[in-house]
Amino acid sequence: MRRVALLAALGAYAMFACGRVTAGEETIHLIDAPGRDVTATRCVTCHSLDYIPMNAAVMSRGSWEKTVRKMIDKFGAPIRQEDVAEILDYLTAHYSG
Ligand code: HEC
Repeated sequence: MRRVALLAALGAYAMFACGRVTAGEETIHLIDAPGRDVTATRCVTCHSLDYIPMNAAVMSRGSWEKTVRKMIDKFGAPIRQEDVAEILDYLTAHYSG
């Protein structure tokens, strides 16, 4: 009986660990909607995704655009031009004030 419980615990841990790697996220979960995956994977490479909800209240499409541009131009974020529009649509729809 004990062994079964231990295996189940290990299995749950493995699933949890893999889920984290696949999603490319840390502690927070962005709102599930079209554009979420591209935003989460592109934006988590340098800093926490917390930056997104933390800034949402004061953001609009224009200010998100400036922020995303800054991430690319100033900080060298590897975000393709064709992903920018999708990320902006997602951020504007779900994370603007
Ligand atoms: C190449 C690394 C890199 C990537 C990729 C990146 N950022 Fe940043 N980001 C930074 C740095 C550096 C700062 C400023 C320093 C800090 O506070 O950590 C920052 C700060 C921020 C801030 C705080 C406000 C500000 O303007 O400084 C927000 C919001 C933000 N990033 C959003 C995003 C979003 C949205 C994405 C995805 C589109 C993204 N970042 C991708 C490097 C990056």
